Amino acid sequence: MNIKFTVNNKNYDLEVSPMKRLLDVLREDVGLTGTKEGCGEGECGACSVFIDGTVVNSCLVPVCQTNACQITTVEGLSNGELSKLQQAFIDYNAAQCGICIPGMLVAAQALLDKTTCPSRAEIRTAIAGNLCRCTGYMKIVDAIEAAALAKE
Ligand code: FES
Ligand code: FES
Repeated sequence: MNIKFTVNNKNYDLEVSPMKRLLDVLREDVGLTGTKEGCGEGECGACSVFIDGTVVNSCLVPVCQTNACQITTVEGLSNGELSKLQQAFIDYNAAQCGICIPGMLVAAQALLDKTTCPSRAEIRTAIAGNLCRCTGYMKIVDAIEAAALAKE
């Protein structure tokens, strides 16, 4: 089927199988490999993207549901240079293997979009659906907190 949508503010017009997962369309047809697959079952949050401003697990979304939608991936969080949030993850050594990090960044961005100064508890709640097998969550929470303070 034909799908028209925008990804990171760029228009796409694709011929794809309607039940192909949005995750795979983004990686294989759009060419944006920042979005990662962890579990493939909606449990880990590694594949999180924004669809029309809402965070979703792209491994659970058939692309046929995204016609005319606006999608933002982890690549879209930067604007030519890394965002404060992305830079904070580097500065705080918040990643090891990095598989979970794109989803963490998307979840954290969703929080920072609606809360200027989140508490650590709010940060932990915001990333509760995002599982990290390597780093533990302390440095990730530190990075998000630092990015929030840097925004002020
Ligand atoms: S890969 Fe989508 S939630 Fe784990
Ligand atoms: S850094 Fe490896 S899963 Fe989080």
